[in-house]
Amino acid sequence: MCKNQFLFNRKDLIESECKTVRISDGVFEKELFIIMLNDSYFVYENSCPHTGGPLDWVPGQFLNLEKDHIQCSTHYALFRINDGYCVSGACAGQALKRVNVKEVDGAIMIDD
Ligand code: FES
Repeated sequence: MCKNQFLFNRKDLIESECKTVRISDGVFEKELFIIMLNDSYFVYENSCPHTGGPLDWVPGQFLNLEKDHIQCSTHYALFRINDGYCVSGACAGQALKRVNVKEVDGAIMIDD
């Protein structure tokens, strides 16, 4: 991942909804997603620790019905939104890969 790479505009985020973005370092490509909760936002790689496959049910839909956890669409593991820790399912005790980001003038970008 490239430091300072633009990902999202803060003004486009909606509470309890997710957005995705594809990034590339010129060799590898990956998808990231962001979710805003209680006016804080969290960015993760769209990859389940169980198999490495994508998490979303349909593009951009990552949450369970109650909208209180991220849920893998393949085997239904549940992850806490604020730190990506898996609390239930095949990869319990593991965590989503979090992306460190920073915000500059409303632009959310990679910070590591
Ligand atoms: S692939 Fe996510 S729980 Fe199995």
